[in-house]
Amino acid sequence: PEPFYANYNGFAIQADVVVKPISSTIQSGFALPPIEDFEKAITPKTKAIVVCNPNNPTGYLYSAEEMETLKQIVLKHNLYLFADEAYREFCYEGKHTSAMHLKGAEQHVVLMDTISKRYSACGGRIGAFITKNKQVFDAAMKFAQARLSPPFYAQVLGEAAVDLPDNYFDTTKAEYKLRRDTIVKRLNAMPGVFCPNPGGAFYAMAQLPVKDSDAFCQWLLEEFSYEGQTVMLAPATGFYSTPGLGRNEVRLAYVLNVESINSAMDCLERALEVYPDKIVKLAEAQAGG
Ligand SMILES: Cc1ncc(COP(=O)(O)O)c(C=O)c1O
Repeated sequence: PEPFYANYNGFAIQADVVVKPISSTIQSGFALPPIEDFEKAITPKTKAIVVCNPNNPTGYLYSAEEMETLKQIVLKHNLYLFADEAYREFCYEGKHTSAMHLKGAEQHVVLMDTISKRYSACGGRIGAFITKNKQVFDAAMKFAQARLSPPFYAQVLGEAAVDLPDNYFDTTKAEYKLRRDTIVKRLNAMPGVFCPNPGGAFYAMAQLPVKDSDAFCQWLLEEFSYEGQTVMLAPATGFYSTPGLGRNEVRLAYVLNVESINSAMDCLERALEVYPDKIVKLAEAQAGG
């Protein structure tokens, strides 16, 4: 489903893999697109479906039913289900359904995991590739042996992090939920802004009353400041594979503390008031793409 983590496109191009985006929409909160949309995109050359749960950039948490739907379709067409669960501890409402727990799909599921998000260890380059499919596992081992190791310090850190007590994550999650609640409330209180409540990860996608979010994000960095500060947002176009989609959406990462989030939202609110290339009504924004 698109929007998706932009690196999937880059790596797919390097590997000569064609990515077919199945669009989800901000109006549905980025829920799983209808199954017919997947069916339409599947051809004899299709190898896999990729799902990132909770999703980057939308923060959408796929339900047990949605994961079951994906299971049915991979079984029907004999595909792999690549599940990127980098954010699986960051779930605020509802339960996370791991692809690894989909009964009957054991030979189809390949799970990707990382210490990057869970332990704030981005750059550590330590992760895991998990599958019960022996052939896939053996093939992955060949590649693994052809690679150099991740850095020594990150291996020590990764090993120590796994031994953190369970309550480490309770505190972390409570803090992130507070950040999520703060940013979503602040965004939806701004005129013309719509932000669905993301169930997981630490991202939110918002629709802004601007014609072109790339231009708006650039303007924020180059021309705008409020009390000596500005905000850096990710234009959503980079997360869509379909040209033209996401033009008035941005992704926000709520990785700062609540005080900084509030300052950033003050700044964004002011920026939207004075930005010249604005769309006044949300309905027009939606029609504009
Ligand atoms: C969905 C998703 N998968 C994977 C990664 C990268 O993980 P790593 O740091 O282990 O390469 C990220 C980081 O942004 C991500 O958002």
